[in-house]
Amino acid sequence: MRKILVGVSGASGMPLAACVLRGLAAMPDVQTHCVVSRSAVAVLKAECCAGAEMLTTYADSVYDADDLAAGPASGSWWHGENAAMLVVPCSMATLGALASGVTRNLVHRAGDVVMKEGLRLVLVTRESPLSAVHLRNMLVLCRGGAVIMPFSPGFYLRPQSLEDMLLQTSGRIFDQLGLTHNLTRWL
Ligand SMILES: Cc1cc2nc3c(=O)[nH]c(=O)nc-3n(C[C@H](O)[C@H](O)[C@H](O)COP(=O)(O)O)c2cc1C
Repeated sequence: MRKILVGVSGASGMPLAACVLRGLAAMPDVQTHCVVSRSAVAVLKAECCAGAEMLTTYADSVYDADDLAAGPASGSWWHGENAAMLVVPCSMATLGALASGVTRNLVHRAGDVVMKEGLRLVLVTRESPLSAVHLRNMLVLCRGGAVIMPFSPGFYLRPQSLEDMLLQTSGRIFDQLGLTHNLTRWL
C-alpha cells in the first residue's frame, strides 16, 4: 500500500488536480490523502464553479489546510508505507514557502516534513512567465531533492482534447511517484 498526500494550492490547473486524484482513487494499492489550501478553494470556484468536494471526493482522508496538528504535519506519519507527496497545482506562493521553510498551512508544513524526512516530493508548478525569484526557489527545492515538474503537456502524443492532455500529464506525474498506470507514454 502506498500512502500519497496530494496538496492542492491556489494556482491555475484544478482540472489537472481532479484528473490526478481520480486516477489515484482508481489504484487499489494507493491510499490517497488530500489537503486543499484556502486559495485553491477560490481558484476552484473561478475555474470549475465548484467547491473543494470536487477534489476531496476522490480521497480516502481529507485534512483542513489550517490544521497544523494533522497527521501529515508530523514526521512519524510519513514512515512505513512508502509515502510520497504531490502538490498539484503548485502556486509560486507555496513554492516560495517550501523554498524558505516558512510554513503557514498544512500543504507547506507537509512538504517541509517530506523533504526533511528524505521522501519523494513532486511539485507540479503553474506560472508563466517565471521571475528570478521563482527560478531561484525552484533551484533551491530541486537541490533539496524535490522534483519540479511544470505543467507542460507534450503534443507528440497528438492529444485530441483537454482530457487527453490531462491524462497524459497525470501519467507523467504517476511515473515520478513510481506508480503503475496504463496511461499513454511516448515510448
Ligand atoms: C483564478 C486564480 C488563478 C491563479 N493562478 C495562479 C497560478 O497559476 N500560479 C500562481 O502561482 N498563483 C496563482 N494565483 C494566485 C494564488 O492563488 C495566490 O498567490 C495564493 O496566495 C496562493 O496561496 P497557496 O499557495 O497557499 O494556495 C491565482 C489566483 C486566482 C484567484
